[in-house]
Amino acid sequence: LRFNVVSLFPEIFSGFVSNGLIKRALDKSLISINFYNPRNFTKDKHRRVDDSPYGGGAGMVLRIEPLYNVIQHIKEVDPCTRVVYLSAAGKQLTQNLVNDYSQSDCSYTLVAGRYEGVDQRFIDLCVDEELAFGASILMGGEVPAMAFIEAVSRYVPDVLGNSESLVIETFLQDDPELGEYPQYTKPRSFLKIDVPDVLLSGNHQEIEIWRKVNRRKINR
Ligand SMILES: C[S@@+](CC[C@H](N)C(=O)[O-])C[C@H]1O[C@@H](n2cnc3c(N)ncnc32)[C@H](O)[C@@H]1O
Repeated sequence: LRFNVVSLFPEIFSGFVSNGLIKRALDKSLISINFYNPRNFTKDKHRRVDDSPYGGGAGMVLRIEPLYNVIQHIKEVDPCTRVVYLSAAGKQLTQNLVNDYSQSDCSYTLVAGRYEGVDQRFIDLCVDEELAFGASILMGGEVPAMAFIEAVSRYVPDVLGNSESLVIETFLQDDPELGEYPQYTKPRSFLKIDVPDVLLSGNHQEIEIWRKVNRRKINR
């Protein structure tokens, strides 16, 4: 799966691409991520990408020209791409959506806003979809873009060491109120709290029943 990331602060992603399963997926070419900085697509001699809002109000707004130009450029090199603007006003990213997104043959171009957001004409002209991550306002779209890449990449074959991890998970249960079962590892006892005996029994049928009955309730 291919991702293009449009961000004024691509350095934020340096730790993201050089650690853990994302690094492994990149090294094995299971996914690719290309970064584009709108600052490199402005004709302004000061490379200015933002300006004050028409009508007044707090903060600065990202100007349309650099964003429009960067999308045009990406579409020239990668014509089959879906432009996603990470936005608090977008559709909430759910696990079912993540699963659908992972099936795409086209790339995703993830646009991270900053300041007070982007000129509305950019959304109207260039954006296929607006996606929100959680129900709170962040400082920029970079963290949601990373979350999107992680969540979707988990469904790309061979990205996870164990594909069974995708089968029984929170958000994919028959009951939407329930999450995954409680997990334990060594030591068997900690501060006098013991791992449930059944998990040490070796009886897979009983373990399965215990896990089904003891699924964690999702806190909302
Ligand atoms: C400070 S926010 C702007 C918030 C905007 N004024 C509003 O009220 O929705 C700057 C950028 O962060 C990103 N952002 C903030 N919260 C987000 C969220 N919950 N999900 C996705 N993107 C978010 C968007 O790209 C946004 O343009």
